[in-house]
Amino acid sequence: MTDVSVDASGTFLTLGSRRFHAIWLRDNAADPETRDPGNGQRLIAPGAIPSDLRIASAAVSDTTLMVNFAPEMRAIAFDLSWLERNAYDQSGVDGRGWTEPTITTWTGSRLGEVPVANLGDLEMRGAALRDWLGCVRNYGVARVINGPVAPGALFRIVNLFGHVRETNYGRHFDVRTQVNPVNLANTGRALQAHTDNPYRDPVPTVQVLYCLESSLTGGDSMVIDGFAAVRRLQEENPDHFDVLADHCARFAFDGEEGVSLAARRPLIELAPDGELRCVRFNNRSLAAVRDVPFERMAMWYAAYRHLGDIVDDPLMAISFRLEPGECFVVDNTRVLHGRTAWTGAGNRWLQGCYADMDGLRSTHEALMQATSREPV
Ligand code: FE2
Repeated sequence: MTDVSVDASGTFLTLGSRRFHAIWLRDNAADPETRDPGNGQRLIAPGAIPSDLRIASAAVSDTTLMVNFAPEMRAIAFDLSWLERNAYDQSGVDGRGWTEPTITTWTGSRLGEVPVANLGDLEMRGAALRDWLGCVRNYGVARVINGPVAPGALFRIVNLFGHVRETNYGRHFDVRTQVNPVNLANTGRALQAHTDNPYRDPVPTVQVLYCLESSLTGGDSMVIDGFAAVRRLQEENPDHFDVLADHCARFAFDGEEGVSLAARRPLIELAPDGELRCVRFNNRSLAAVRDVPFERMAMWYAAYRHLGDIVDDPLMAISFRLEPGECFVVDNTRVLHGRTAWTGAGNRWLQGCYADMDGLRSTHEALMQATSREPV
């Protein structure tokens, strides 16, 4: 059984090797007066907890920690396994650029191939979908094959995990050769690997690209793990990582009448504790950067060039040919996508749309909980 002791001040207790504050425990109580039993939402505001709250006593039984709070004189039970999962009394984080253990960074040479599944299997909404969504979360990219060759089929992909995020490009957009293209994506030239739409805030977090026609030479798709790219940048030159994380860049798009999108965000976005949260890399839509001090601008550009060299390193990328009825999904906060150039006769027609990672994560979590409840 785990030992518990209450500090003489009553402001915290020690359970095994972990300390928990009185205020934290009280705020996270799961009793029906603190949390709605139906939807689990908290019923009290911060001010409802007495400012002189103390732990009067605490005791452990098999699976429960029972805490008596003063001056409320309220006894509340806490599940020990819940406390273990949510403990916060642990030594520091891993510096700048760390990622959750559920994320696996990769290079093309290490991962080899993008994880793939059949659309029919995914639409059964069982273990295959659970595992495929897990791949999108883990690697930031996954493919789907054996889908229909029909305009709008990409919405069946989004329906697997969430909802389309509509933009000024519409519910979806078409990527194919056009005369007088508004956007360089609609020409036959190669595109450096990039994240989409960094000029939006918030940026679209999922992109789906679905192939309807592919009868030409070239135009292969490629993906690069942006998290692996910036971690490599950090290893090769920590100052380059820091300067891109420390200062905001600017991105803009106003190539369409009635549209003037702009965002001020760093190329490498970190949480306050250094967690790597988002990479933005798109040479086409970088605007004039004006938030880097004069003394650091030369370093910023050296770092930007350095990151571009890493992105262009063929060892970083996985390339594949999308056939009609196939698609890939990327976490657009992390994985860059691009394509090789194409020439001559034939057509290439992709349909793309955006969606959101929070819905994808939610569907994955719910599927994991559902499958863990299934009899084995
Ligand atoms: Fe793109």
